[in-house]
Amino acid sequence: MGNIGFNYQKTPFRYISRWKDGEWSEGVLTEDNILHINESSPALHYGQQCFEGLKVYPTKDGKLQLFRAQDNAKRLNTSCRRLLMPEIPESMFIDACKQVALANLDVIPKYGIGETFYLRPFVIGVGENIGVKSATEFLFVVFGLPVGTYFSDGLSPVSFKTSDFDRAAPNGTGSVKVGGNYSASFLPKKEAVKNGYADCIYLDPKTHTKIEEVGAANFFGITHDNKFVTPTSNSILPSITKYSLLYLAKNYLGLEAEERDCFINNLKEFKEAGACGTAAIITPINAIAHEDWVHQFESGEIVGEVTQKLYDTLVGIQFGDIDAPEGWITVIDK
Ligand code: PLP
Ligand code: COI
Repeated sequence: MGNIGFNYQKTPFRYISRWKDGEWSEGVLTEDNILHINESSPALHYGQQCFEGLKVYPTKDGKLQLFRAQDNAKRLNTSCRRLLMPEIPESMFIDACKQVALANLDVIPKYGIGETFYLRPFVIGVGENIGVKSATEFLFVVFGLPVGTYFSDGLSPVSFKTSDFDRAAPNGTGSVKVGGNYSASFLPKKEAVKNGYADCIYLDPKTHTKIEEVGAANFFGITHDNKFVTPTSNSILPSITKYSLLYLAKNYLGLEAEERDCFINNLKEFKEAGACGTAAIITPINAIAHEDWVHQFESGEIVGEVTQKLYDTLVGIQFGDIDAPEGWITVIDK
């Protein structure tokens, strides 16, 4: 995989549309990467903000494609509804992603170097406001940038530590992709990194006994009898990668796959484990530290056999080397 990591860089064009008087304006591409918004915007004070993350994948035959972009559009709209923001029509979301990819063709990584062009769509509440209430004007922006891997350099296992902090409340906003969940994670992540871990693992906010998220990614484990298992909870972000892996484990690899509780005190049921997400792709987990003990998975510092197969299948589909299930791929016509 590439080694440019996951860092901001300005790329030539981004897409912007404004909601005013009940409708979205026709989106435009602009070279300006600075937003000019009112100092009292609810996005700045009350976190009225949500976002998505998806990637443009270059294929061997020179095409560009999106992976399950309709699902990102749907999830953005779920987040918008939760924060009382206007939804983005799915066709507008896909069109904006395509426009940003095509306008930035010169900086989209080539096939074969393991890099992709990460798109960051977001919606923010803007305009004059001071009371705790929703904005009446909104911006929908999509920008993009080349990225490599998020957690580690390539498909190499890393270790995580559980946090005493919660990233979301039991009936809060954990299942939507809103900025507040992420700013709440800066401190726990900083503490985990300071102690030599890649990030922290969040346990369920009610009982602190079940694994919920691995930093900004979902968790999965592979049991000793090769079952793919991933947690379920209403404070976990419904990861598109996770749902893809559930499907691929069953239908491409012939494994049993299920969503169920994953207890932190029963990690020994898994021989392999990983973090999955758009940015994280699949990041194998070497060890998890909790309270005063550390559990090392059997696969340890090498990539487990099932994790490797899942990775090869997922990434093969994303880059167009393996046939995708119907509806998963949107080709961007150049
Ligand atoms: N969990 C959190 C908290 C995330 O931020 C992400 C990233 O989007 C994921 C899980 C993975 O979701 P997806 O696979 O849709 O990118
Ligand atoms: C993603 O995987 O797209 C994410 O949003 C995770 C993180 C970079 C916020």
